[in-house]
Amino acid sequence: MKLRLGINIDHVATLRNARGGDNPSPIRAALIAREAGADGITAHLREDRRHIKDHDIEQLKNEVPLPLNLEMAATGEMLNIALRIKPHAVCLVPEKRAELTTEGGLNVLAIEKDLTPYIKKLQDNGSRVSLFIDPDIAQINAAKNTGAKVVELHTGTYAHNPSEDNCGLIKKAAKHAADLGLEVHAGHGLNYKNVAAIAAIPEIVELNIGHFLIGEAVFVGLKEVIAQMRKIMDNSRK
Ligand code: PXP
Repeated sequence: MKLRLGINIDHVATLRNARGGDNPSPIRAALIAREAGADGITAHLREDRRHIKDHDIEQLKNEVPLPLNLEMAATGEMLNIALRIKPHAVCLVPEKRAELTTEGGLNVLAIEKDLTPYIKKLQDNGSRVSLFIDPDIAQINAAKNTGAKVVELHTGTYAHNPSEDNCGLIKKAAKHAADLGLEVHAGHGLNYKNVAAIAAIPEIVELNIGHFLIGEAVFVGLKEVIAQMRKIMDNSRK
């Protein structure tokens, strides 16, 4: 099965917000990502709006002809936004104000009962729901119990230390999730060097990649880095 590539454009907004104006535009980045062969756009609307703002989400939904994957914490405020915007997909992530990035997966085991009706509201409204979790069998089982159809496996630990053991955990988790009938995505910390082993895992159908690509784009352009990432992913999949 073809491996989809979702581009996380949060850090185009980080750069824009450094000066408070309109440049660089996350919407323009999303349109270029589409030209370069991206299959979707991911954007994380954080509680503190440190990068993506509410108007970015509206524009991404209305002006970019690619599926929008809205990353968000499972709060009441975000639920109302997602119900109004109706993104193609919602990815539920844990969120801490003080963190630099999403540090770990959602502890679905701890909040399974609250998540179940929350997810149903989003699904009944037409959004596919994924849960961003660590590659952990108990979390995958809990994710299945919530009624979510998709899990996104957090590759951060592997990305920091791309050992065979850490890759093995992702492989095992992907297989377990797929055996339960869940669609499997992965992301966090992926770059040209560490992506191949993840892209080769046959159960994984989507990767979401942001920080590395936006950083590299400063030097060689967004179109080129996305095309290069696509090439590595496709070669690894063969
Ligand atoms: N997937 C999810 C759920 C994330 O939270 C992030 C980071 O915002 C990514 C993918 C992309 O991670 P990175 O920016 O490290 O490529």
